[in-house]
Amino acid sequence: MKKNKISKNWLAKQRKDPYFKESKILGYRSRAVFKIIEMNKKFKFLKKNSLLIDLGSSPGSWTQFAGKEITKGKILAVDIIPMKKIDNVDFINGDFLDKDIFEKIRVYFKSKVDVVLSDMAPNTSGNKEMDTYRTGELCLNAMNLSKKILQDNGVFISKLFMGSVFKDINETAKKSFKKVAIYKPLASKKESKEIYIYCKGVLKNDK
Ligand SMILES: C[S@@+](CC[C@H](N)C(=O)[O-])C[C@H]1O[C@@H](n2cnc3c(N)ncnc32)[C@H](O)[C@@H]1O
Repeated sequence: MKKNKISKNWLAKQRKDPYFKESKILGYRSRAVFKIIEMNKKFKFLKKNSLLIDLGSSPGSWTQFAGKEITKGKILAVDIIPMKKIDNVDFINGDFLDKDIFEKIRVYFKSKVDVVLSDMAPNTSGNKEMDTYRTGELCLNAMNLSKKILQDNGVFISKLFMGSVFKDINETAKKSFKKVAIYKPLASKKESKEIYIYCKGVLKNDK
């Protein structure tokens, strides 16, 4: 009974959300698509021939949008949970922290890539501090992967939550990339501490 009420409230909230409505009209799998659309408008990192990795891709709205912009490149999506097929996109079902997944990514591209996206978030624990920390860890691990696999002028974008870990992540990014910016898309709910870090150009001494 209680659960029913909660899910009814959730549905009612979603229906009022303009981003949710618009994503359904446009055929995207999630309202999250508007975050990547806004970020690409600002930072212009998707090119028709980009090689792109999308970490934490399911259900797939970021990948869908990337697939529309990248018509001659290659897109590899990775998630622990399955993702329904998207045309011209390959998908690895697994934890990106597993060594063999990194090897599969390397083998797939056979070269450095242009863009690494991470919208990864762990299952929420209910403990905000713990969730902030775990999302921060995913961000740092994705940053490490990016430093190994990005071409010199490559772009890394990742979700994180404002909180205790932010300063460390921002400082680590500044030591590793030529340009670092913090961005909160309008589509990211105001009440959420979610923000995105944009990093461009791997510093040679930190590869
Ligand atoms: C907010 S959702 C991503 C939404 C996606 N950007 C979209 O537009 O549809 C976060 C995803 O991160 C994935 N994730 C969390 N930890 C992961 C890990 N270690 N490896 C791969 N995927 C992970 C989750 O399974 C979840 O599907």
